[in-house]
Amino acid sequence: MPVPERIKNFINGKWVDAISKKTFASCNPADRRDIIGSVADSDFRDVNAAVSSARLAFPSWSNCPAPKRGEILYRAAEILVKRKEVLGALVTREMGKILAEGLGDVQEAIDMTYYMAGEGRRLCGETVPSELANKDAKSVRCPVGVFGLITPWNFPIAIPSWKIIPALIAGNTVVFKPAEETPICATRFVEVLEEAGVPSGVINLVHGFGETVGDPIVRHPDVDAVAFTGSNSVGSQIAGICGSLQKHFMMETGGKNPIIIMDDADLDLACEGALWGGFGTSGQRCTAASRLIVHEKVYDVFIKKFRAKALSLIVGNGQDKKTQMGPIVSHAQYKKVVSYIAVGKKEGARLILGGKGMHQGSCAHGTFIAPTIFVDVTPTMRIAREEIFGPVVSILKIGNLQEAIKIANDVAFGLSGAIYSQNVNHTAIFERDMDAGLVYINASTIGAEIQLPFGGTKKTGLGPRDAGGRGGALDHYTKWKVIYRDFSGRLQKAQID
Ligand code: UN1
Repeated sequence: MPVPERIKNFINGKWVDAISKKTFASCNPADRRDIIGSVADSDFRDVNAAVSSARLAFPSWSNCPAPKRGEILYRAAEILVKRKEVLGALVTREMGKILAEGLGDVQEAIDMTYYMAGEGRRLCGETVPSELANKDAKSVRCPVGVFGLITPWNFPIAIPSWKIIPALIAGNTVVFKPAEETPICATRFVEVLEEAGVPSGVINLVHGFGETVGDPIVRHPDVDAVAFTGSNSVGSQIAGICGSLQKHFMMETGGKNPIIIMDDADLDLACEGALWGGFGTSGQRCTAASRLIVHEKVYDVFIKKFRAKALSLIVGNGQDKKTQMGPIVSHAQYKKVVSYIAVGKKEGARLILGGKGMHQGSCAHGTFIAPTIFVDVTPTMRIAREEIFGPVVSILKIGNLQEAIKIANDVAFGLSGAIYSQNVNHTAIFERDMDAGLVYINASTIGAEIQLPFGGTKKTGLGPRDAGGRGGALDHYTKWKVIYRDFSGRLQKAQID
């Protein structure tokens, strides 16, 4: 095996080891013998250096005209396009998702970077008439300052782009802590920004763990605002800290996303959507379809079809083009998924497929779990309520649309929801009553596009959403300033004159 590459922090425009000189390993979840990199294991001292560098870079970056910032980001998008194949393969090797999805991960970052580069020539505010003569009124978007950005492993290039790119176009500087499972993808993304000409100190990368790097970033007095995607328990801890320190905060922390399959659905289409939603990325998406809520009239026939399709999925190393489902990202995640399978059995759900780790053949050296299906799941079972983040699908039976929507909404999360039905009234009622940030009609729960906000209701998130459109990321990465200009030459009193 080749010597693992040394993966460094990026602080003030220089690639540096952690001050402690300690490292941790990043390995391929499909074959844990494949150690890809030995990564800077940083602590608060590295964070302090990164925050100072971001603070120092802020005045000139925030004063750089936004269209110029956009030109730099446009160049970053062009480099990402050229490097798509290499980066996509790295996503597969480090995170485990299959090659087509690795490429999709990079494509999402490309889309975001082009989109936000264009925002450099918009960053629109409002001009409105004043109630007084010879006075005008407008609002402008201003940069916030230094951002701490903490991202997950499941979209190791796309999700960093969702946060870093809007932060940069808006004129902020960044201290970025990627997930410890996917540090090399993050490093390659930052290299692209460096090459595109993002000035020194504007983007700083600090590798490491939540307690030793994430926590000091969040608490640092010179970090003005934080964005986080990851688990709900970590997100709510950060929310508490940011609340007490009065820092602007946004988070996106997951879902328990349903697909309702009505008796009038195109069952083959629904089956494909459920398969993609449930087992795509081995179920390791916030948007994964982990609950199928199926009408009693088609319950048995749907389950038969779905089980047969899931059984035929080719599980293995995502680097092999034939593979349809890759590994689980880490041992810790593997253990969590296996423990949920035990919970499902104990709760009395009927396991009809999978339910165990895979250790044979091409799965021998990785962390694989077979596509798993539970049927006769009831809405109060934990496997119907809690986010598992693995290839485990729970199927529930319903008798009508109202009951289906009630169950769909009866969980703590509200990220994504889908319905398969040919009845236009059913789909319209679902569209209105599904309490989620993303609603799909005759499509699966995954596949959000970057030009509209990404995020959800209830415990799924706090603050503005990620990505584009109204209510999207720019609402987090800018602060509003309202400007009134009075050119009457006399005292005019609003609400009184
Ligand atoms: C996530 O699962 O954290 O809609 C993000 C989707 C992708 C993004 C998922 N575009 O599934």
